[in-house]
Amino acid sequence: MEIKISRADSLKGEIEVPGDKSISHRAVMLGALAEGITEIKGFLFGEDCLSTIRCFRRLGVKIEVINENHVKIYGEGLHGLSEPEDVLDAGNSGTTMRLLLGILSGQKFYSVLTGDASLRKRPMDRVIKPLQRMGAKIRARNKDSLAPISVLGNDSSVLKPIEYETPVASAQVKSALLLAGLFCEGTTMVSEKVRTRDHTERMLKAFGADISMEDGGKRILLKGLSKLKGAEVQIPGDISSASFFIAAGCLVPDSEVIISNVGINFTRTGVLDVLSSMGADIELINKRMLCGEPAADIVVKYSPLRAVEISGEIIPRVIDEIPILAVAACRAHGTTLIRDAAELRIKETDRIGIMAAELRKMGAKIKEMDDGMIIEGPVDLKGARVNSHGDHRIAMALAVAGLVAKGETIIEDAQCAAVSFPNFYEILRELTGTAGGK
Ligand code: S3P
Repeated sequence: MEIKISRADSLKGEIEVPGDKSISHRAVMLGALAEGITEIKGFLFGEDCLSTIRCFRRLGVKIEVINENHVKIYGEGLHGLSEPEDVLDAGNSGTTMRLLLGILSGQKFYSVLTGDASLRKRPMDRVIKPLQRMGAKIRARNKDSLAPISVLGNDSSVLKPIEYETPVASAQVKSALLLAGLFCEGTTMVSEKVRTRDHTERMLKAFGADISMEDGGKRILLKGLSKLKGAEVQIPGDISSASFFIAAGCLVPDSEVIISNVGINFTRTGVLDVLSSMGADIELINKRMLCGEPAADIVVKYSPLRAVEISGEIIPRVIDEIPILAVAACRAHGTTLIRDAAELRIKETDRIGIMAAELRKMGAKIKEMDDGMIIEGPVDLKGARVNSHGDHRIAMALAVAGLVAKGETIIEDAQCAAVSFPNFYEILRELTGTAGGK
């Protein structure tokens, strides 16, 4: 599907973005492993989370969709999953594949996991290797590094706890090991040099797991084989989805946008810190807690931006927002430097190479580096024919670039936005006042 985007005069209005993707995955997974019923409100019905639902249905878990944001999970308990009759397909979702591997490692039965062409290229050895150390019997393509992956049944269904420092800053690796830790006799310890998103830890706590955090959240201890109890989960809006409209509100003159009910967990709010240091006018109001996760309404107004350096410890807090920050950098005064972000090259696509190539088609001045980009601004972007390469965040970042470009921008392969944000283009039309189909 192609989408045409025209320059916007202003963005005005109050919107809500869909539920947080990371939290939605985890709610289904813990709900399935818990005893009793888990009610999830604010669930994200994006393609990635639907992959998680499909996998757990295949593992014998009853999951009811009550309405467009409410899901009910009938938990099977820690040892209640059953052998799937067919391959488990994680689609485009790295979170589904990596976290599920942690859970499958502790099962007695045989299972096979695969995904789409993008996911089958992404490194899985970062979870497979430590899981093998815990006693999991896993085999995968390309020397145990790529999907399809088979997990052989673990006869005793009890894994060995390990102490592990993650070599890459990855919440997916940390979470996979913690989930495997549920099936260990004893205490699993996972530590990280730089803190990554902590939704798994928060939700495990809410479901009654025996978990504690040390060293400012960088070291996590989880005692295995204790029961999880079904819970009521209320999921806030996804700040990664909100970031497209936060950036758009900063960039399009005369804009004022309110995004209500957005998750503002510190491990996710790097985008607010970076944009604020660029001079953005962003205010958080009505701060509150939703089931152990902080949330707020975000008010953003147009403001001229200046270039900054984005590197070091903030990178994991802003990793999914770098494509949209690259767009903001094209309009900021000065030279933006993005470093220490080599992980971007192994996301759904190579987000450094593709953002640089696509934004250059619109006139951007970007130099690629192995672990980042150097972006000169401000540049008067011009409309062009660009391509998302099937990456949801690239499609949405290019759409925002189109709002500030002269002339028409055509985004090819635009429908992939539905991976994380099914109604993205609808909301965009609402805010630009073109909902009637201008
Ligand atoms: C996620 C962790 C991050 C992030 C991804 C979602 C999660 O990936 O980029 O979109 O839900 O745990 P990594 O763990 O690979 O950094």
